[in-house]
This record gives sequence, C-alpha cells and structure tokens, in this order.
Amino acid sequence: MADANRIRIFDTTLRDGEQSPGASMNNVEKVEVARALAGLGVDILEAGFPIASQGDFEAVRAIATEVTGTVVCGLARCNARDIDRAWEALRFAQRARIHVFLATSAIHREHKLKMTRAQVIERAVESVRRARALCDDVEFSPEDAARTEIDFLSDVVGAAIDAGATTVNIPDTVGYATPTQYAGVIRALRARVPNIDRAVISVHCHNDLGLAVANSLAACEVGARQVECTINGLGERAGNAALEEIVMALKTRFDYYGLTTGIRTERLYPVSRMVSTITGLTVQRNKAIVGRNAFAHEAGIHQDGMLKERSTYEIMRPEEVGVPRTDLVLGKHSGRHALRERVVELGYHLNEAQIETLFEDFKALADKKKEVYDEDLVVLIEKHIQDVPAHWSLVSLHTTAGSSVIPTATVCIRRPDGQVVRDAAIGDGPVDAIFKAVERVTGVAANLREFAVRGVTAGKDAQGEVSLELEVESDDRTFRGRAASTDIIEASAEAYLNAVNAIVTRRERDHPREVIGRPGAGA
Ligand code: KIV
Ligand code: ZN
Repeated sequence: MADANRIRIFDTTLRDGEQSPGASMNNVEKVEVARALAGLGVDILEAGFPIASQGDFEAVRAIATEVTGTVVCGLARCNARDIDRAWEALRFAQRARIHVFLATSAIHREHKLKMTRAQVIERAVESVRRARALCDDVEFSPEDAARTEIDFLSDVVGAAIDAGATTVNIPDTVGYATPTQYAGVIRALRARVPNIDRAVISVHCHNDLGLAVANSLAACEVGARQVECTINGLGERAGNAALEEIVMALKTRFDYYGLTTGIRTERLYPVSRMVSTITGLTVQRNKAIVGRNAFAHEAGIHQDGMLKERSTYEIMRPEEVGVPRTDLVLGKHSGRHALRERVVELGYHLNEAQIETLFEDFKALADKKKEVYDEDLVVLIEKHIQDVPAHWSLVSLHTTAGSSVIPTATVCIRRPDGQVVRDAAIGDGPVDAIFKAVERVTGVAANLREFAVRGVTAGKDAQGEVSLELEVESDDRTFRGRAASTDIIEASAEAYLNAVNAIVTRRERDHPREVIGRPGAGA
C-alpha cells in the first residue's frame, strides 16, 4: 500500500519548464536532464508534449526508451490524435503515464473551447477512456481548475476518475490562487467527489503572484499527494513551483507537515546547476535553496553566531542540498580517472569517446587557468552534449578595437564542405564586427535578440560564457547559441556560429534539398 504521507514529486522541467521563453533544449540535452532527474529521485518525469512537434516526439521517445527508474509521462490534449501520438512516444518506457488535459473554467469554455459543460465532461471522459485503453497510468488535468466553478470541477473530476484516471491534477494555470483559497479547492473536492479516494490528487501551481510554492504546500496540508514542479522554478511566464523549494520545505519542516518525498536532496544543487547551464537561464543569486547566496552569511553578527553554533542562523546544511564546500576539482595534473568520476558526480553520462575529447579540452583549459572548478567543467561538458552539427566552425579570428580605431574583425571559418574561407567586417565594437564578418561568410542573416556574458567562476582568469539568441525574420523563429572561453571575444564568435549552425540544421531538416549558406562566399 502506498505510504499515505508520501508526496510524489512530478517533475515537469522538460515540458512546462521548457515552455519558458528562452529555455528550449535540444534532445541530447533533454535526455541528459532526464537522467539527472531520475537520479534525483523524481517519481514522475513529464518528458514533453509529443504532438507539439517531431522534435518533442523524438525527445519523449528517447527518454522513454533510455531513462529508467522513474515513470515517464507525456502530455496530450483531449483528442485521439494527441493521445495516440503520446502513447507512440511512451510505449517502450519501463513505466509510462499519459497526461490528458482539457480546460474547464467558464472563461476557457466560453472563449477558447466554445463548449458547454456537458460537452467538456463528455470529451474528458472519452479521452481518459482512450488513454486508459493504452496505458494503466493516466492523469487528467482540468486546465484552469483553480478558476473553475467548484460544482462543475467536482463533476469533471468525478467523471474522469470513473473513466479511469488514476491521478487528478488541479492546475492553477494562471497563478491566480492564494494558499488558503487553493487549499479550500482541494478540501472541497475531497468532500464533494464521491470516488476521490480512487485517484491521487495532484497540484500544479504557476507563480504569477509568487505563490506557487505556498499554494502547493497548502494543498499538501489538506490531502494533495502529488506536486508538479520544475527545477529552478522554470516554466511559462513567472514559472512553476520550484521543486527544490517544495522538497526542502517538506524536509526541513517535517515537524510541521509530517510529509516525505523520495528526493535525494544532495542531488538538488548539481541538477539545478545542470539545468541552468543547459538552458542558459541563470539562477538568481538569492534564490532559495540553490542560489549562490542561499548559504552565504555576510553580516558579522551572523558569522559570529554561526561559528558558535550553526543552528543560530542556518536551518539547512548546505551539504544536504549538495552545495559543495569547495568546488575546486581538478588541476593540470589530474588524470582521466578523476575527470570521469567528477563528471558522474556532476550528474552527467558521457561515453568514453566524449570523455576523451573532454579530457583534451580540460587539459587545454588547465593550461590557461590554474584552477578548474566544477562550473568550468560543466560548461566544457555542455559543449559535448550540444547535438548541433558544426556545419561552420571557427578556425581563427583577429580583432582590432580601441577608443580611436574603427573596430574590425577578420574571421577564418571552415565551411560545411571543409574549405576554409576568410572575410572581414567593421562594426560598432569588436563583437559586432565579428558577427557581421560571420554573416558575410555564412550568408545566414539573423537579428541578435539577446546577448549575455557571465563569468563562469570568480577570478581574473575565469572563463566567460556567452549566450545569445538570433532571430530569423523569414520564419519567425529564434535560435540559441552558447560558448565559453577564457577569451570572451572568441566565446562570442563560437556562440554566434553555434546559433548559425542551429539555423542551418533546422533549414536542412525543413528543406533537405536546399543548398545552405553562400557557397564560395568570402573565399
Ligand atoms: O498549467 C497548466 O494548466 C498545465 C496543464 C497542461 C497541466 O500546464
Ligand atoms: Zn502549467
């Protein structure tokens, strides 16, 4: 029998989290994150929305096939095509779940769906039945449940359970609820829905008012037993409830909640860092649990108290969430064995060939910078799991800049056919000049929408990581590029080429016969 006080952690970083503007990941990265989430101990992992695109379908299928130790879930709207496609992606999973959703609030029924209450119930029932015919584990979500009339919500939830839903999720889709009110919805459902005990009640809260974690915890107090959440609180708009905050609140305040999870909390920090590196979305410094300052004590009076007795100012130990005491890991003389072990500890799975090239990159970096930290290693590893083919690659570059010269860049780039070409451009600054020169060589025109540089670690010899986003007007899409180097000009060029390669890859996929780029340009 399931433990009545155990909260199931349903992670949706790869589905709702990936819907965050700028958070998209490629499929290799998604599988890597999925493995790390399974290692973290999440009970259910929502891998994606298979009908959304071929890429989403493939990501869910790859995760279902390759990742074990957790239930792999795929999202579907309440229609036959979505459900069948979700199952096609999930069918080889060790344990699979189909998650079907349909909006129920009056606003959605009237303006979006143009359906009556009866039609909504009929569609939900049909869909849950269809999903149950394929898979034993089916979750139903009445989208915008928190704004749905409680009598109707009770009817829909009861009908979905009768049709075979094993979990009923109550989303606060727009982050409108408040803790007491949301807990009231869960309490009312438990009182009104006669068959409610046949399903697990789940909560799914968005953070528009900054209440997602508080709402989720309030719901747990009154009987919810599954929480849907994301690493670092990623998600649509202001995000979803942050997994690390939910888990550590339940753990640290076990005296109050009396509830447990199966999360290996010492994996929280490495997984948070992995997700942040892969998505390029940095974690705010003062973010609870995983922010850089979460365990830093600055005030003298606090430091004094900490030295006398840690519990004066510390309610959790950094080790409990996996914050390393020091993350200096490797130096110039470290060998492959130490590197391999560190990679695993950081939650990554690389094959021997990848370890070999990583080792070469590591040695090159260790030559440039005395101390190689975990963060340095993570950005190097990232390079190895980006699955964008290097159609165009940087051979060398030269820039001139200063207060009294016109910034100029010369780039030397290997074309997809192997030929090395050279071109030059002037710009507002050296980086702008590089981007213009790359555009001249590749013939790929795009607008720079975002450009950010961050120091991977502290110190003058730190690597700078450049992440940028290019927008291609003709097809209204954006493409991300990221690269790190101890030279930020070089990192900028690599990141730009990375995004150009993503554009080329996409065009090749969409138009396989088209010749990409500007053959002969800049030769
Ligand atoms: O926020 C929401 O309502 C959702 C559903 C698909 C569960 O993400
Ligand atoms: Zn959501």
